[in-house]
Amino acid sequence: MVQYTDELKEEIRSANDIVDVISQYVTLKRSGRNFFGLCPFHKEKSPSFSVSADRQYFHCFGCHKGGDVFTFISEIERISFKESLEFLAERARIELPTVENSEFNKTQYLKDRMFKINAETAIFYHERLYKPLAKIAQDYVKQRKLDNNTLKAFKIGYSGEYNELYKMLKSKGFKDEEILATGLVNKTERGEFIDRFRKRLMFPIMDVSGRVIAFGGRKLENNDKMAKYINSNENLVYSKKKHLFALNLAKQSDSKQIILVEGYMDAISLYQRGFNNVVASLGTALTEEQGRLLRKYSEQVILSYDSDGAGQEAIMRGLSILENQGCDARVLQMEGAKDPDEYVIKYGSGRFKLLIENAISLVEFKIKMVKSKYNLENANDKIRFLKEITKILSNVDNKIEREIYIESIAGNYNISKEAIYAEVNKAAYNNNTKFNEKNLVKPAVKQEKVIEISPAIIKRENMILYLLINHFRESYEAIVTNISLDDFKLETNKFIFEKILESPAEESEKILQTIANIEDAEIQSHVSEILVTDYEISSIEKCIEDVVNIYNKDRLANRKLEIVKELENSSNLTKDEIAKLEQELSEIIIELAKRK
Ligand code: GTP
Ligand code: MN
Repeated sequence: MVQYTDELKEEIRSANDIVDVISQYVTLKRSGRNFFGLCPFHKEKSPSFSVSADRQYFHCFGCHKGGDVFTFISEIERISFKESLEFLAERARIELPTVENSEFNKTQYLKDRMFKINAETAIFYHERLYKPLAKIAQDYVKQRKLDNNTLKAFKIGYSGEYNELYKMLKSKGFKDEEILATGLVNKTERGEFIDRFRKRLMFPIMDVSGRVIAFGGRKLENNDKMAKYINSNENLVYSKKKHLFALNLAKQSDSKQIILVEGYMDAISLYQRGFNNVVASLGTALTEEQGRLLRKYSEQVILSYDSDGAGQEAIMRGLSILENQGCDARVLQMEGAKDPDEYVIKYGSGRFKLLIENAISLVEFKIKMVKSKYNLENANDKIRFLKEITKILSNVDNKIEREIYIESIAGNYNISKEAIYAEVNKAAYNNNTKFNEKNLVKPAVKQEKVIEISPAIIKRENMILYLLINHFRESYEAIVTNISLDDFKLETNKFIFEKILESPAEESEKILQTIANIEDAEIQSHVSEILVTDYEISSIEKCIEDVVNIYNKDRLANRKLEIVKELENSSNLTKDEIAKLEQELSEIIIELAKRK
């Protein structure tokens, strides 16, 4: 039988992010450092199943199952541990060794040799930087203001001439095919071996665990014909889409934030000035894989792209990749310097820190982009601007967040809050009706209209009845003064509530008897459900207060929809009436935001 090595197990583990894997079975929501969802291993109504992205563990506070990604798969797929390994290897397209495939073992061995070559090479280049012959490189790092600690932390080096690296590697016993596999040395048509990087400032690129997997080399001469950077080609151990420069250092930072920059030099320069949570992409636009890595090691990502470069498209794409992965993504806005390195040298780390604190969200960024197209002094432009930002804002699900944006736009762009509220609600209302219509398309089993009532509403109604039945004295007054028959959505509940209202108060304590006398199987079964359910009531008073609040909030929300509708057909309203409605609308919205 084949034994899988620990190293292979680790490779499979790190290729299967636990949040991704579990997301295929459970809907997870982020909350702080963890993700929560309904436990797939036992029945539950509120989420007690938690997944830690940074520890790569899951745990259910309900049934107490827990473990790593292998445990999860073997539990959920009901397979052995070894099978879970094979399952996840296949998911990540990692080839497993079999008795027959000695090919596999060869590949593993070659990878191992490549890591060793890369490690030796990094040391070779780094030591070479301190030799007298490296004066040009030493002058350059001085000019770029890199201090010795930084050179050490990043193992910055200076590459040799002609075939110095090749000779060194051969002297250490590495074979030609192993050396060629790293791309650090090329073979010419004439059969000569020549180093790929020559007389360049060398930046080793490391994976998350700090193993050297590739190099970037910067030219030192002022020669326009030379490429500024040469990087390792993709190979068995390196893919520029899957790694991030300096992540091995950034992950050690205590910060929950990661600053994403474009250039090696930006990452290095910021690191030297105390920002130890910086990573650089490797000459490509941010990829999904990199997004996943960032989410794994941070809660918030600050995109800090060059002020000229990338362009808005790249920023927007980067932001949406990150947001889709559940990262809080922000854009840092920089003026007066072309990149973070230049900025921090020119204005200091204090000012750069301020830029981080003032970084804006995707929504704010989009609004800014829209704004740049229009001249808000012009009335027509202002209306178009309002229409466009309305579209953006109506897609913000979180109400409070939306309120905050509206407040700030009103302030920044000198537009009345009410006007924005009205527009946004109109758009949100339109979105809603579309959504509801879609929902109403159901197989026509019954002719009559089937109205879906959410489980939360049913549970709430059930609880009110439960209180009346079991805690009549404490609850009757408060409930009947605040909740009316029309508030009940479920017919059965409405019927029971009506019975309670009908009976003279002093007799109502015997309500259970009354209900018991109703000979209707559906009602009886429903009542028994009401009675056996655990509503987790700790204080009756508090519980009633909460329920009453919910109903009041619903009333506000309904009134809001009414107003939006009225405003939509505003042609038959006077200016005054419109203003009044808009005023009421904004008050309701603020009130609702406060209650959330
Ligand atoms: P400095 O110009 O020394 O400050 O370097 P930088 O790190 O600021 O680089 P820059 O902003 O010009 O480019 C960002 C990144 O794009 C670099 O770190 C490289 O990864 C990549 N890059 C830049 N120029 C080249 C090039 O000529 N060839 C390749 N392959 N990649 C490049
Ligand atoms: Mn630069």
